[in-house]
Amino acid sequence: MRLPLLPVGAPQLSFAPEQDALPLLDAVIETSRSIRAPFFFPGHKMGLGAPLPLRQRLVSRRALRHDLPELPELDNLFAAEGAIHEAERLAALAFGAGRSWLLVNGSTAGVLAAGGRRCLGVPIDQVEAGLQRYGSRVAAVLVVSPTYQGVLSDVGGIARLTRAAGVPLIVDEAHGGHLHFLCDTAPVAPGVGLARPRSALSEGADIVVQSTHKMLGSLTQSAMLHAKAVWPQPCHHSTLSALHERNACGAQMTSSSPSYLLLGSLDAARWQFASRHGGGRAALHRACEHAAALRSAVGRMANGPTVLQFDGGAGVYAMDPLRITLSVQDGFALDEALVGAGIYSELPEALSITFALSAGTRARHVRRLVRKLNSPSVAKLNAGREAHTRASALKAAAVAASRSDSWSKSYCSPREAFFRGSRSVPAAKAIGQISAALVCPYPPGIPILIPGEEITAEAVSLLHDLRAAGCSITGCADNSMATFDVLE
Ligand SMILES: Cc1ncc(COP(=O)(O)O)c(C=O)c1O
Repeated sequence: MRLPLLPVGAPQLSFAPEQDALPLLDAVIETSRSIRAPFFFPGHKMGLGAPLPLRQRLVSRRALRHDLPELPELDNLFAAEGAIHEAERLAALAFGAGRSWLLVNGSTAGVLAAGGRRCLGVPIDQVEAGLQRYGSRVAAVLVVSPTYQGVLSDVGGIARLTRAAGVPLIVDEAHGGHLHFLCDTAPVAPGVGLARPRSALSEGADIVVQSTHKMLGSLTQSAMLHAKAVWPQPCHHSTLSALHERNACGAQMTSSSPSYLLLGSLDAARWQFASRHGGGRAALHRACEHAAALRSAVGRMANGPTVLQFDGGAGVYAMDPLRITLSVQDGFALDEALVGAGIYSELPEALSITFALSAGTRARHVRRLVRKLNSPSVAKLNAGREAHTRASALKAAAVAASRSDSWSKSYCSPREAFFRGSRSVPAAKAIGQISAALVCPYPPGIPILIPGEEITAEAVSLLHDLRAAGCSITGCADNSMATFDVLE
């Protein structure tokens, strides 16, 4: 028996009256009101014992009063049957899922429980080739869409392949929580042959993880896991086993004290976009207009940065209209100049800089950015040779890092390496030994050494070059890279 699936296609964007409810947020407020003597964790006891700087300068007393543990009225995240269950039911309806789970450890926990990062999407023929090559050994297909830069893969096409192969399609849609709520009249990113961006669930994905905190309005670290299937159902579909695992893994990977501020904020974020009173969809529409204005202002700049624009093709199916990446001579230098003017981007990289717009973006934010990009100091920066040299060094290093598998040899699996003993040795003695650590430069965030790989002279020399070019290196026994962790 196949699972009953919700229809694939354009999302139904009418406002259902039941979406006006805020079951979890209301439960948190009502429960807080009824507490007279809190002998529970957290130790700040609803703010009374909170450190003064926290209470007076960072978080309001009201927020602290609602920072509650899993009291009976507040349901249990790992066995929801009350307010959390109702909030999850409304979220599933709002996002077009068969079943949704609230998460308090970001998409990170969701992706781990369900199952890279690159600028382009995943070409459909790559998925087809992988399915053919690995056949019945494929447990699931995991696709990141949209990417950090807002590139959407052809999730619909990939879903047709995975359905035919009988394996679940998991989509890391950390950056795409808003896609379901974009209306069809919103201005989209220009590009020849691009489709309109649609959510992975509406395109037929089986399991979707979204960082609700990234593109919608919930608090940092809050996220959602959605399943296309109406669940639980008595059948043996592989999606189901993946979901059973999610319940088991989710509990292992999540704190046993989930924050009700985070959970309540997820309830509110769903309400913002699914209730007629939330105003979220109109705000998203305005954000798309701000994005279009930013794109055309940058397009008019003589000798300025250019908007990174993709046409439809291998791996690029659609673009998120709210993600704007500029091609520049030195993304880090430009970022520094922008920060000096109070403008904070989402992701500076060697030769680009990415801005994330959302329902909270205002026209004044865009005007400020455009003014700064037009300023003589930024124009000079774009022409600067020194900046270009540093960016080129980082770009070259990033390319080298991405090819690192061609020059490093693996001796055992990362799992085996994890369970073996290790010791720290001076860098010179580390060459030829097996790395016990994942050594990774940021940027670009691509590991040079993974546990179980030989530490080659080339790897060490590349790491030194990256450090000299301004990357921070994580995973060495010490930050100066004088010592490395190697297997016994
Ligand atoms: C593609 C992708 N997936 C997952 C994550 C993790 O999301 P979270 O910060 O919600 O844990 C990120 C974070 O940036 C991401 O870029």
